[in-house]
Amino acid sequence: MDGFYLVDVVSKTTIQLMKQPWEIQDFLTSENGQLHIDDVKAVELAKEFGSPLFVFSEGRIKHNIARLRRVETVIDCPLKICYAAKALSNMAILRAVREAGSDLEVNSGGELWKALKAGFRGDQIIFNGTSKEVWEIEMAVEAEIYAIQVDSLYELSLISDTAKRLGKRANVSLRLVPEIETNTHSGLQTALLTSKFGMMPDEAFAAFREYKDSPELNLAGVHLHIGSQNPEPDVYTEALEILFANLLLVYKETGVKLSHINLGGGFPVNYSRGNTYPELPEKAQKEMEDILEKGYIESKYSDGRVIRSPIPKEWVESAAREKMFAADYEPDSAIADAWKQLRAKASETGAEELIDGLTVLLEPGRSIIADAGICLTTVRNIKERPISNISDSMKSYGEAKLEADKEKSENGLNLSFGMYATGFSFTDPAITSERWLLTDAGFNILLSMETYKWYYQLVSAQRSDADHDSPYKVAGPLCDGGDVYFDIEGEGRLPDHRSLPEDVQPGEVLALLNCGAYSFAQAMEYNGRFLPAMVMIKENGDPELIRKRDTFEDLIRNDL
Ligand SMILES: Cc1ncc(COP(=O)(O)O)c(C=O)c1O
Repeated sequence: MDGFYLVDVVSKTTIQLMKQPWEIQDFLTSENGQLHIDDVKAVELAKEFGSPLFVFSEGRIKHNIARLRRVETVIDCPLKICYAAKALSNMAILRAVREAGSDLEVNSGGELWKALKAGFRGDQIIFNGTSKEVWEIEMAVEAEIYAIQVDSLYELSLISDTAKRLGKRANVSLRLVPEIETNTHSGLQTALLTSKFGMMPDEAFAAFREYKDSPELNLAGVHLHIGSQNPEPDVYTEALEILFANLLLVYKETGVKLSHINLGGGFPVNYSRGNTYPELPEKAQKEMEDILEKGYIESKYSDGRVIRSPIPKEWVESAAREKMFAADYEPDSAIADAWKQLRAKASETGAEELIDGLTVLLEPGRSIIADAGICLTTVRNIKERPISNISDSMKSYGEAKLEADKEKSENGLNLSFGMYATGFSFTDPAITSERWLLTDAGFNILLSMETYKWYYQLVSAQRSDADHDSPYKVAGPLCDGGDVYFDIEGEGRLPDHRSLPEDVQPGEVLALLNCGAYSFAQAMEYNGRFLPAMVMIKENGDPELIRKRDTFEDLIRNDL
């Protein structure tokens, strides 16, 4: 039977047959060859609101918050979800998040101002950041927010002075740097000593000792954030362990009973879902995993010699990258295991009373907004380039590699693994040129595609049912050679070609999936490009413009 079965993770009940692997029931669907978002035809949206266009689903945002809310069922204390505004802080999105029952994490006075304007109360807001200025601290203290997350002892003294001056008591939570490594992108690691965030546990104890009776500071909690797009759920066990150890030590050493612990964000989104890369045969997959686990390749010779050689760095990086983009686990199951261990520790140490009255905080950004946002982009230009000139040497390299891979796969080891394997062999002499598509969405609105080589699945919005089996080089509109949908350095950190239906022509609308987080939030006017419009499909099915496209005037608004 053709198609894919999907199980709704929230209700765990509905099972539906989907035609495309990237479809998400009741949200992202392919009907009559057309991409639909919440039952609205994507192409119609691009026609009405222009392109490029970010489209968000209110229903999906609510679904994602409900999914995170399930964490409450596996811990035996209250849960406070604080959406990380940095992922996207458009006002309508903030309001939708608030209405869905989430509180908010902000990172600057600007985000705090937006939070208050969007209707969040002070006790619904927490404030992170490494370089808070006095005016920002004043705003936070005045607004009596739930917690200012403190990044250093120096900052704590600033908060104390500010609260004293204002005649208020500030709620604070100390951000720890717990030395937990996660296999995410290096730029998304935030819990290592080499990262710029947080305080050493010793410094935190010094702070508790010094300020425990302070009339200006209410030392309410401890906080950590391991990193974003964490591929393995067990980092949350480590994180809870560390938070609990600190909770216990603070109590023993200073008598302070903390009222909350904050586990940060970092739950992953499966960016590879729907990628139709060829699967490795099971045997080869297993062998590859074994090799990666052992850390070396073992070759056995007929004379009995066994030689171990190191794994090429690219293999290791490629495997880690794949795992990161395809990470997919339920936040409640990650926390359930972690919580059980915390409970066991608490009863071992006779410290169960420290859990009574405790609130657990989460700060998810990506897992709320990433898959709720799609970027529609139109092909604006097309060209054909011969591949032979540039790739004679690459071609012979390719041929040699193909041979080597073939040989190895005959030995049961297929090296051409990975989400970026296109299935096309440009070593085929019949293929002499490649087709380029130039879209209107570049790294000005998807910066992470350039800085982190972040992968966004690309599908045709108007031929969503067609086979996506023709290779194209895809690039954005910027006058910048790095504005391409592949890794220009040739290091394979993005697919070299994108697979789309045959004969894509200018005017065809394409959709980049899972684009809601850290995309528009980092957008810029580079090359004089207008910041795009945004639409949200409301729960009643109506598309609502939630951000106007910039105009000429916006380009010079603040220039004097
Ligand atoms: C302190 C803090 N909390 C929460 C988040 C949100 O992380 P994510 O979007 O991965 O859930 C971040 C982003 O990296 C962060 O730095």
